[in-house]
Amino acid sequence: MTRLGVVLSGRGSNFLAIAAQVRAGAVPAEIAVVISNRADAPGLAAARELGLTAIALPSKGLDREAYDQQLIAALREHGVEWVILAGYMRILSAAFIRAFPSRILNIHPSLLPAFTGLDAQHQAFDYGVTITGCTVHFVDEHLDHGPIVMQAAVEVAASDTAETLSARILVEEHRIYSESIRRLLTTPWRIDGRRVVFET
Ligand code: GRF
Repeated sequence: MTRLGVVLSGRGSNFLAIAAQVRAGAVPAEIAVVISNRADAPGLAAARELGLTAIALPSKGLDREAYDQQLIAALREHGVEWVILAGYMRILSAAFIRAFPSRILNIHPSLLPAFTGLDAQHQAFDYGVTITGCTVHFVDEHLDHGPIVMQAAVEVAASDTAETLSARILVEEHRIYSESIRRLLTTPWRIDGRRVVFET
């Protein structure tokens, strides 16, 4: 069974959605470890409640390189093959990306390449777009940038606030993150430039 390592900083709703699909057998993998740079992350407490190995690895006071070495070591210690970023609020070093080549995924709450960085849902809402959504992508050395695995579109309603819009995007996030992992683990694929090509 493929060993996933989930890395998060906060609420952990994407992690919980993936954990549910793993438990249901829809994603053929096991969650080997959940790691947070914030000891008080609700996602970490949720992982413990599920009986998963959950580790707080505080990032305070460490520079990126030093911290990422600790993170790599912790993931390796648990035999992690795929790194699943689920609301991890730090930028990864080049050394981290090299440690797990083409095996790091992230979810971003916009249709990339639009609205990278923080508060993407609010950025999209404030910009006045009529369609936004979310993106699952491989992680490379640039922010919210690697090859795209899957996207889902969400229409902006006239009655929306940034909050109601975010909630509808989150529903799609939960769906496409698990589905992306399932597809990558069950279907042959390759990366061709910026494109993720599924062979079937
Ligand atoms: C999600 O909006 C995700 O797209 C972004 O961070 C947020 C994490 O939410 N990368 P949660 O912790 O998974 O609930």
